[in-house]
Amino acid sequence: MTSRIPIVAGNWKMYKIRSEAADLVNGILPAVSKNNYCEVVVCPPFTALQTVANIVKGTKLGLGAQNCHFEDSGAFTGEVSPLMLKDIGCKYVIIGHSERRTKFGETDESINKKLKALYKHQLLPILCCGETLEERESKRLYEVVERQIRGGLADIPSEKMPTTVIAYEPVWAIGTGRTATPEQAQDMHAFIRKILADMFDKSTADNIRIQYGGSVNAGNVKQLMAQPDIDGALVGGASLEPEKFIPLIQFKD
Ligand code: 13P
Repeated sequence: MTSRIPIVAGNWKMYKIRSEAADLVNGILPAVSKNNYCEVVVCPPFTALQTVANIVKGTKLGLGAQNCHFEDSGAFTGEVSPLMLKDIGCKYVIIGHSERRTKFGETDESINKKLKALYKHQLLPILCCGETLEERESKRLYEVVERQIRGGLADIPSEKMPTTVIAYEPVWAIGTGRTATPEQAQDMHAFIRKILADMFDKSTADNIRIQYGGSVNAGNVKQLMAQPDIDGALVGGASLEPEKFIPLIQFKD
């Protein structure tokens, strides 16, 4: 038996100016303080990280960023480095979100470099993977997710894996209101764990947390979290209001 502590993370995407970010975090903090069975993380846009860092300091609420560059510094206009994120108080960084892959040309190779850069600074990656609707319908879903996992985690030593979080986010379920069924999600999570066992070993794989993401809401969270290989959620839309986010961290109540 393993004891993976579930992790629920809010990916705010490109929403919330600083005052709104402060209101949102202050709105969820009391519920986070009372929660003993899952880790909770918020990932604001870069411009609100400092504001949120000041509020969450010393609390149980973790801070994450949504992306980073793989170098510590350099002539990379518009980019933010892992060193800068560490300096501001981030613990987690989302890497390889499907929006970054499809809209900003990220590849498994660049994602792999980013992961390695995060480990260097003891930042914890949330590595995203997931197939498009077309890939699912043409039955290429396993092949695509396997490529993303093997590519993203290429040459990563197994000792880094317990602090790595994987997020399975089927692209067709993101922001669409169309969630994977608990069975579809469990099936893919079990498949991902099998790949991880093959890449590393079974006990390493059994300790890695795999979040589900894609239209998670108060109505579907309990059933999703009840699946044996689902260890939390990566939440977009429903992380933007305390009333919608709080039920997602109380999925056992
Ligand atoms: P939604 O929860 O809005 O579907 O977004 C999911 C997501 O992309 C989280 O990273």
